[in-house]
Amino acid sequence: MAEPIVELEDITFAYPSTGRVLDGLNFKLYLGDRIGISGPNGSGKTTLFHIIMGLLRPESGTVRIFGRTRKKEEDFREVRERIGLLMQDPDDQLFCPTVEEDIAFGPLNLGKPRDEVRRIVQDVIELLGLEGKERRFSYALSYGEKRLVSLATVLAMQPEVLLLDEPTAGLDEETYRKIVNFLNSRDGLTYCVVSHDLSLLEEVTDKVYRIMNGKLMC
Ligand SMILES: Nc1ncnc2c1ncn2[C@@H]1O[C@H](COP(=O)(O)OP(=O)(O)OP(=O)(O)O)[C@@H](O)[C@H]1O
Ligand SMILES: [Mg+2]
Repeated sequence: MAEPIVELEDITFAYPSTGRVLDGLNFKLYLGDRIGISGPNGSGKTTLFHIIMGLLRPESGTVRIFGRTRKKEEDFREVRERIGLLMQDPDDQLFCPTVEEDIAFGPLNLGKPRDEVRRIVQDVIELLGLEGKERRFSYALSYGEKRLVSLATVLAMQPEVLLLDEPTAGLDEETYRKIVNFLNSRDGLTYCVVSHDLSLLEEVTDKVYRIMNGKLMC
């Protein structure tokens, strides 16, 4: 069998002010996997995603991504270019004045030419039905609009893998459907979705883990 894209082995993690959040956690994500993760508030789901992206470093255990052990900040640069994280809070994701600038930021930062970036921005705007909102101020969007624009910023990076932290929380039925349809319309997409919504996980994933006592259980 091919090597996993993401492999976490025996990960432990504690915040300075809290007890241990992850405690001997193991996780493997293979190309084409559609994995769901659920679990109580505060059980460490967001922490797990932040460890994969290198935003937090484990106390012990091994993080192997795209076949390489990742430890230092520079090891995660490639990870952040190839794996897209939709953050739980859209205010952590949007920081440019306008929607189109927020969406263009990632691909420009990857060094893509302006013409290509313009095309990418247009494509994701159409894909997520954000037409007409290009010049809106990101800070003044509604929560659901911020959520969709955040997803647009992630997709504009054309990542090989998506980590989606509560992608549909607080969304209306139509916006929820847009996200479900997107996830179900891409053959071979690799992603991991954190959600409390078990019916969402049933619709868009093939396997669901639960995080309990710092570990992932089937
Ligand atoms: N920056 C931080 N400093 C201290 N403790 C933190 C920090 N971030 C998270 N925690 C604590 O770590 C635990 C796990 O948090 P985490 O955000 O990973 O949970 P979660 O499973 O994503 O929860 P939710 O379902 O509410 O999003 C919680 O008890 C939380 O209070
Ligand atoms: Mg969370």
